[in-house]
Amino acid sequence: MALEAAFVSLGEQADKMSNTTLRELFADDPDRFEKFSARTGDLLLDYSKTKIDLKTLDLLFELARAADLEQRRSAMFAGEKINTTEERAVLHTALRNRSDRPVLVDGHDVMPDVRAVLDAMADFSEAVRSGELVSSSGAPFTDVVNIGIGGSDLGPVMATLALAPYHDGPELHYVSNVDGAHIADTLEKLDPATTLIIVASKTFTTIETMTNAATARRWIADTLGEEAVGQHFAAVSTALDKVAAFGIDRSRVFGFWDWVGGRYSIWSAIGLPLMIAIGPDAFNDFLEGAHAIDLHFQEAPLDQNLPVLMALIGVWHRDVVGYSARAVLPYDQRLARLPAYLQQLDMESNGKRVRLDGSPVDRETGPLVWGEPGTNGQHAFYQLLHQGTTVIPCEFLIAAHGHESDLQQHHDLLMANCLAQSEALMLGRTLEEATALLTASGHSKEDVERLAPHKVFPGDRPSLTLVYDRLTPFALGRLIALYEHRVFVEGVIWGINSFDQWGVELGKELATALLPMVKGQASADKKDASTRGLLAILKG
Ligand code: F6P
Repeated sequence: MALEAAFVSLGEQADKMSNTTLRELFADDPDRFEKFSARTGDLLLDYSKTKIDLKTLDLLFELARAADLEQRRSAMFAGEKINTTEERAVLHTALRNRSDRPVLVDGHDVMPDVRAVLDAMADFSEAVRSGELVSSSGAPFTDVVNIGIGGSDLGPVMATLALAPYHDGPELHYVSNVDGAHIADTLEKLDPATTLIIVASKTFTTIETMTNAATARRWIADTLGEEAVGQHFAAVSTALDKVAAFGIDRSRVFGFWDWVGGRYSIWSAIGLPLMIAIGPDAFNDFLEGAHAIDLHFQEAPLDQNLPVLMALIGVWHRDVVGYSARAVLPYDQRLARLPAYLQQLDMESNGKRVRLDGSPVDRETGPLVWGEPGTNGQHAFYQLLHQGTTVIPCEFLIAAHGHESDLQQHHDLLMANCLAQSEALMLGRTLEEATALLTASGHSKEDVERLAPHKVFPGDRPSLTLVYDRLTPFALGRLIALYEHRVFVEGVIWGINSFDQWGVELGKELATALLPMVKGQASADKKDASTRGLLAILKG
């Protein structure tokens, strides 16, 4: 079936499904959970609270086949240059390839290079962690500051917080924003004599990172002397020539390759700060988790394939039912930065409006992705999720076990709240139910009529739930890889290039042009009236 025809059939199916409710689907089928959930290892995806049936699933699988998903997946893993606008392979999967399988790029097996960098990272991390590698003062490093932005920041930040129970290395700090407040507030608390700075930038040209790196360099040089700089810096980049020009010794530079996209680079040397925090063995477990999902994604049949199922439900919601956003709601405080991480992964990958061949897309692509951890969000924006006029599919994440075994009451409450939210979104509360509850609690007839409409929940609002046993390095690696492949599958169905990011360029170019105007070194006369007016006020 051709792609267009598959979408037409799905549209017809959506019309049929609109005549039923999630409540009815559950009432009619006691096995709905078994039928509409899938697992790999201890990771379970429950998609029973989305409004689909077996027919819908079949049509979604036909859609995937019509988009040549299986061939596209093979092309990615085989190192074909599927990032066509940058003429690059897309091989973040090679970074966590634990098998003996060679991975060829232009006929060259990249696996020995990948292993060599991982070994060098492990040696460096161990030396920092053990205190064998000392600062210019002869003291071990107590603090590490990672300077990077976007993919050179969000992954390590998110994972360092997520894996706090495994953090037994030096303190980690992350500086990303060019706002001087970020680096000033970070460095203020630190002793330069025991601080190691990692400059992380794939291109080593990103203005925010270069500006922060220069400030950090001055901080070291001004306090410890110019000769101390070398001992306090390391770098991670694909642009080794540019790193050398910055003055960082080759022995402290960890490379990666142009076939690793920034937002897919946590598995590469960009993971160095995480490795310093949790150690090479735990980092290895993190890679193992991702590799387990790579195998699952390649081998599991479509109806058992977690990333495929999540993607197809994503497309169903976005293109067929017409929801424009999705909320990521980890009931796991240590995944507090996961929504921000997924925003880059998903929105920079699939926020596209032309297809691979440059022609405009004829349907919606990537949704708005946002979220906050539960239960905090419940006391903030869940009101809109339950009773607002916009339906936002929700994605709940929760561990069966917390790390705080002495705080079981907390985890019990966390689980109860997580389950309650997806149940409430699905069931809702009818006017009759609201009326009955108010009447039973002794309200007057008048009050019941007045209050009941406010207490109605439309329900029938879809959600996914991901359950894992405990947030270990392995479990985190698996979760991130799951989301990466979900983004890939959605991109394949939309026929877009999920691996470039031209949409970030125009703003960068204009900022470069505006800087001399901000500094008063160039005239803003040719700018539009708003830009001129704002500039005048800012500089006034
Ligand atoms: O501006 C977007 C972007 O190019 C991201 O794709 C990337 O992760 C980030 O900037 C940082 O880039 P770099 O690692 O080259 O400094």
